[in-house]
Amino acid sequence: MSNLKPARVLAVETSCDETACAVIENGRALLASVVASQMEIHARYGGVFPEVASRQHVLSIIPVVEQALSQAHLTLKNIDAVAVTRGPGLAGSLVVGVNMAKGLALGAGLPLVGVNHLEGHIYSSWVYNADESIPSEPQFPLMALLVSGGHTELNLMTDHLTYKRLGSTLDDAAGEAFDKVARLLGLPYPGGPSIQKAAEEGDPTRFNFPRAWLDGTSNFSFSGLKTAVLYEVRELEKKGRSLFVPDLAASFQAAVVDVLFKKTMEAAREHDAKEILVAGGVSANRALRKAFQSQTEFKVHIPPLSLCTDNAAMIAAAGYHRYALGHISELDIDVLPTWPLS
Ligand code: KG4
Ligand code: ZN
Repeated sequence: MSNLKPARVLAVETSCDETACAVIENGRALLASVVASQMEIHARYGGVFPEVASRQHVLSIIPVVEQALSQAHLTLKNIDAVAVTRGPGLAGSLVVGVNMAKGLALGAGLPLVGVNHLEGHIYSSWVYNADESIPSEPQFPLMALLVSGGHTELNLMTDHLTYKRLGSTLDDAAGEAFDKVARLLGLPYPGGPSIQKAAEEGDPTRFNFPRAWLDGTSNFSFSGLKTAVLYEVRELEKKGRSLFVPDLAASFQAAVVDVLFKKTMEAAREHDAKEILVAGGVSANRALRKAFQSQTEFKVHIPPLSLCTDNAAMIAAAGYHRYALGHISELDIDVLPTWPLS
């Protein structure tokens, strides 16, 4: 454990379509984590409907916070700071969590810490369940691959809260590519898990989809791959052939995993990283996890599935480090929907 001051942080996360609250001790030990998912509601629309998401957060936020405190057997009197995701995300969703957190901080006389959602994803690898044995802490310099619905980035982390962004996607994020390709293959929302499921029945070598290596950079590009899948689908339809969705899904997934894995390994070698960290919703992908877990060159930290997609435990972990270093926000903080990581 780092030698930062001990503290319990309660965090609120409402950046997209999950209403979440968690309590964490000393930035790592998870005492409670509650996530109310709106997935079923948005599935009807084939994607997140922002206005509906915002209204759902309003309905869920108080019960979710109450449930987290009761799960942790604590009251606000036992909490040292309140952390909240202030961006990036959907403005109408973020504003619900930020105002809840402001209310909690003001009412209980606690400091408020605004947290970047992407930094939160990175800190999910520090979290462990308080009743389990303590896993080893990620070691710096750390090569962090962040793969979510809105972002795909490689960051070199040289210390806590210290990042150098080496590259990012020039067009679609990896998760966004999964979601868009799922839609064009007629698979249900959310696309990532649907493609993964279909791919398990398919042949990843049937279609040789393009990989944008963008040599000499740590940038990514997935829009060409998405278009290649679209053209293949049109071609098959034109010829009156069966689409055989599992092969298309498996071949698409193989192309994404290939690029993410090889470019991260390359960057880790080039920057003398000690370890690798993979975070964000796409880190739940079984093929991606397998690629990283099958190599022995670097120790890799990938969070358990419950911490890959949006949750408040990761926000509490990042918030703890910001709090411990005195990065306190004023009560007039606002949401920053497009705030970059660095
Ligand atoms: O981190 P996250 O929950 O939300 C954002 O911050 O964006 O990531 C959501 C993204 C979605 O694009 C979703 O399709 C993708 O993560 N995802 C997956 C898997 N589970 C979620 N992508 C591939 N395979 C999965 N198993
Ligand atoms: Zn996220």
